Amino acid sequence: MNGTIEVKGAKNAALKIFPVALMAQGKIKVINLPEIEDVYRAEEMLEALGHEVKRTKEGETEIQYKSRKCINLPADLVKKFRASVMFVGPLLATCGEVYFPHPGGCVLGAGTRPIDMFLDGFKKMGAEVEVLENSYRLTAKKLKGTNIFFPRITVTGTESLMMTAALAEGRTILKNCAMEPEIIALADFLNSIGAKIQGAGTATIIIDGVEKLGGGEYKVMPDRIEAGTFALMAAASNSGEITISNCLPEQLESLWSLFDKIGVNYKLGETSIQILPSKKIFACDATTHEYPGFATDLQSPYTVLMTQAEGISLVHETIYDRRLLFTDMLAQMGANIIMADPHRVVIKGPAKLYGRTLASPDLRAGIALVIAALIAEGKTEIGNIYQIERGYERINERLSALGADIKKVNDGYED
Ligand code: EPU
Repeated sequence: MNGTIEVKGAKNAALKIFPVALMAQGKIKVINLPEIEDVYRAEEMLEALGHEVKRTKEGETEIQYKSRKCINLPADLVKKFRASVMFVGPLLATCGEVYFPHPGGCVLGAGTRPIDMFLDGFKKMGAEVEVLENSYRLTAKKLKGTNIFFPRITVTGTESLMMTAALAEGRTILKNCAMEPEIIALADFLNSIGAKIQGAGTATIIIDGVEKLGGGEYKVMPDRIEAGTFALMAAASNSGEITISNCLPEQLESLWSLFDKIGVNYKLGETSIQILPSKKIFACDATTHEYPGFATDLQSPYTVLMTQAEGISLVHETIYDRRLLFTDMLAQMGANIIMADPHRVVIKGPAKLYGRTLASPDLRAGIALVIAALIAEGKTEIGNIYQIERGYERINERLSALGADIKKVNDGYED
């Protein structure tokens, strides 16, 4: 594979602007929006809640605020993507009531992914929370500022309570917050439309509630996970020179420190990454960690890379309970990989991989299987590609342009 691949807008930054639109009494224009399934679901969610969403051109959308009374989050959409939980706080803040089923998305935690920290936060802000059979009803006359400590670092929990507190009465202090760059971007945007938020990007965020938020323009930052995934893909294929453009390499320092240890030949520009052929890739242990540590969303492509590295490595997934289960499929492809426990796998490389028929269990495991398929001998067929298209725009076309032999056969969706 050879050539240049451009990074698209960040899924996990883009998705958070749609719930903000529920609270903003003005037009919001979003640009550099990735054309991915989760974004389409977020647009559908806003429409279902009565907003006007207008596609102005590819990657650009305008959201027109409409006053509304809808308090039910549509079950079919909520079940399809986890970020739907982000709509709960804004509806509660503006309508005083919200009813929703347990959110879906990648099945990564024990059973369904918990939302206890969201619910506890809303309760502390004065909401009544009724837990019904697999659904929730939240009510609040007026949300009030309070002190909230997150017992575990949570990205969407931090974002959700930060945006909801923007319209609460008084000051909210959030402690032990996630520090992802997407959270800084969200706070900057909220401030640009009238919110008063300080400290985003640190462990303590202070929000002073305001009466109303206006409209504005949000440019989605480049997707650091996509950039990192392509860098790992290029290192794993180790065939030609691949340039990854339109990205922010400074957001991936934990990956570069691993690359230095394992011997990947790479060069960083301000907004680009170049991966050159490496003499040899060496095995190295990796442990996922909240930002700025090694991202859980890059664990699966790193695990594929380790199947091609010289020596033994231990990959330790600390954020999610089920994110290593896909390694079973790498073993089917020929990788020497042993699961020590659900959070740890031991990999002995390099191993020759062979094409197989597989199904994508979730977004990040799905892209890892694509990478494994690219380096495997023979043909691999991957099903359930809806999961991959939730987060990677037209991946088949973009990888084909680099020389990959990849074809989309049909739209796959399995529950
Ligand atoms: N957790 C709870 N209770 C909660 C919330 C989270 O126990 O109320 C647990 C989770 O089960 C997990 C841990 O806390 O074990 C951390 O989860 P977090 O809340 O940080 O994850 P998230 O906010 O749901 C976001 C991204 C994920 C990314 C993680 C970690 C979005 C929409 N999703 O998820 O992205 O892996 O942060 O960085 O921003 C992906 O893009 O593939 C993806 C899964």
